[in-house]
Amino acid sequence: TKITFVSPDGTETEVDARDGDSVMHTAVSNGITSIVGDCGGAMACATCHVFVDEAWADKTGTRSEGEEDMLEFAATEMQPTSRLSCQITITPDLDGLILRIPEAQA
Ligand code: FES
Repeated sequence: TKITFVSPDGTETEVDARDGDSVMHTAVSNGITSIVGDCGGAMACATCHVFVDEAWADKTGTRSEGEEDMLEFAATEMQPTSRLSCQITITPDLDGLILRIPEAQA
């Protein structure tokens, strides 16, 4: 499953993601350094904040309440499509997914 990370400066990085992995884990293991994942995916750090491309927002699903609470502490203000990337699991359906990295994490 191919997913693309877009930096605030517009640089796109396509990575080959393994189904079942989280987006956060995929980013970390592919050297996307602006996604840190400090808490290891426990929804306790918000350093894995991403903006899901509008066209994909339906497919990645909605934020849970706990996720939303954590996003309030993210370094960059939450947007309508903000997600904690550790809470998005890669599935074949997400092939082509585009995620933007918030300014403050670049
Ligand atoms: Fe910490 Fe996602 S990795 S909240």
